[in-house]
Amino acid sequence: MNDLSAFAWMHRLGRRLTSDEKKMPRNAMPTLPLWNSLERLGPFLSPYRRRWAWALAALASAHLIEANFPLLLKDWINRLASGGSDVTVSLIGVIGVAALRYAAISFGRRRNALVSVDLARDLRTGAFGHLQRQGAEFFAAFPLGDLMARATNDIESIRLFFRGAFQQLVAIVAVMTIAPIFMVAQSPLLTCFVFAVMVVTGALSWALAKSIRKKAQIVQAEFGALTDEARRSFSGIRTIHAHALEESEISRFSRNATSYAVANDDMARLRGFLDTLMSASAGVTTLLVVGVGGSQVQNAELTLGALTAFLLYCGMMLGVLKNSGNAIFALLKASAACTRLFEILDRQPEIIDAEDAMQNVEIRGSVLVDNLTFCYPNGRLALVDVTMRIQPGELIVIVGRVGDGKTTLLRLLTRQLEPSGGAIFLDGIDIRRVSLKRLRNGLTFVRQDPFLFSTSFAENISYDDPDRSEELIWAASRAAALEETIRRGPKGLATPVGEKGLSLSGGQKQRTSLARGLIREAPVLLLDDCFSALDTQTEARVLSRIRMLRKGATTIIVTHRVSTARHADRIFVLDRGRVAETGGHDELRCKGGLYADLLRRQEAYPSPAGGDAE
Ligand SMILES: Nc1ncnc2c1ncn2[C@@H]1O[C@H](COP(=O)(O)OP(=O)(O)OP(=O)(O)O)[C@@H](O)[C@H]1O
Ligand SMILES: [Mg+2]
Repeated sequence: MNDLSAFAWMHRLGRRLTSDEKKMPRNAMPTLPLWNSLERLGPFLSPYRRRWAWALAALASAHLIEANFPLLLKDWINRLASGGSDVTVSLIGVIGVAALRYAAISFGRRRNALVSVDLARDLRTGAFGHLQRQGAEFFAAFPLGDLMARATNDIESIRLFFRGAFQQLVAIVAVMTIAPIFMVAQSPLLTCFVFAVMVVTGALSWALAKSIRKKAQIVQAEFGALTDEARRSFSGIRTIHAHALEESEISRFSRNATSYAVANDDMARLRGFLDTLMSASAGVTTLLVVGVGGSQVQNAELTLGALTAFLLYCGMMLGVLKNSGNAIFALLKASAACTRLFEILDRQPEIIDAEDAMQNVEIRGSVLVDNLTFCYPNGRLALVDVTMRIQPGELIVIVGRVGDGKTTLLRLLTRQLEPSGGAIFLDGIDIRRVSLKRLRNGLTFVRQDPFLFSTSFAENISYDDPDRSEELIWAASRAAALEETIRRGPKGLATPVGEKGLSLSGGQKQRTSLARGLIREAPVLLLDDCFSALDTQTEARVLSRIRMLRKGATTIIVTHRVSTARHADRIFVLDRGRVAETGGHDELRCKGGLYADLLRRQEAYPSPAGGDAE
């Protein structure tokens, strides 16, 4: 049987963990103190504090009402024991107490559930908005799958805590405060015995709780790693198939799944200890009360009604203690989730608007790159003293070889990176003074690696404005030499492009992304190597359409290919991050420098025509 068959893998995944696997190293981040991590939720809870206070009050009063129940029963039993027959008052009392308790608990639970749902919604939206504003460094630091796990699984742990476990914690606090008062009134001696057991149980469970919380963080981190592994693998599925790497991918995933299972297993073991401890404590307490209390009744030191009431109070306490394992576990899990969630929420976006950022500045399209230097955090100097003056309406081509700094320059122009030295001016205004929204609306950047959403051609091309007319979408598609491809699709503009454009060729994806850039009619258009999959004739046609469409607007094209540069008004030649030459095609060709050298080599070895010519 093939090693990859579902049964083989189910067997391998479902087996018991080996001792080596149990020792597998795992990553966990520093643990914040329990309350510090939950305290961070304060601002998120603040809008609901009134509703929450009502929920708290209703739940606590339900337990206060419930505490009267054993007293009524005590009275009832003592009446019967002393030969009385009128129990109507006791009966009415019991029914009244039950009804009131039910009303208070229903009200409290409903309010509390509403708070948990609203809190989770706010946390999700807050996390999503925060992630939207983060830059490249952030996404390099946190794998996408892990971020997804934090924004979904961790927030769900917080919601579940507030929904269910929080009520249990209120019950624990309320019952543990109210019941002892009533218990002391029945029998101080029995109360002392019960509390001795509780103190020992409390100390032991606190020690266990610390380890459980650490384990909960590890489990959540492992879940993040597992999610990321699946995401990484499915997004590279074509490469995996091309290199027949399915088996090694499945092994990798299995290792991650095992790691996750190991972490869960560790946590389940500790949780099991906690549950056992709670049950044992309940058993010992009942034995003590029945043993000692029974002999007190025999010696007439306690009435039968008082022992029954005491047992009922014990039952109430043991009931909440029995659930406390779950509640404490959920609390610890939520606290671990908070630590993980706030680790990302605490990260300020790397690039933000200045306080007085200009929102409505008019962009005409003149660009001045002034002595720009950029060094990546790893020390790689990508651009050195780059100066460029670009007038509105110019078609500029920046030529350079692999790694010469072309994409870095375009990312600096759109403020995806901040210069290490020098500055960039747009119509005479430093781009750091323009709001990011305005800047990126004015400067449209078409990326070198085209990214498509898993929707239709039309939705991809007109992503920024779903209400654009079909004529505009067709016009942009025509300019990007995509019209024929769309017409061949079974549903025209509505044809789905597949998961991230999986059903399109590389060249078709490139053109779709080019059409998306062209349709925005931005004052400055930045095209990063968008013609590499076009043959030179199609490229010439596309460029002449772009020139026509963008008359009066600035277009900056980055390329390796000299064939693209021929069409430019002006060419900048980059050489290892510096501007080596500037001028028109003929001027640079005659100069005999780097451009002429590139031209000679590319004419001698023209790159193959890419994509389907239209
Ligand atoms: N995130 C990064 N961290 C560190 N170094 C980087 C990073 N991105 C790019 N570099 C380096 O900076 C230099 C310039 O990269 P850039 O992407 O700007 O080159 P390019 O001219 O666009 O190349 P290509 O023609 O292959 O697209 C390269 O040497 C690259 O290795
Ligand atoms: Mg590049």
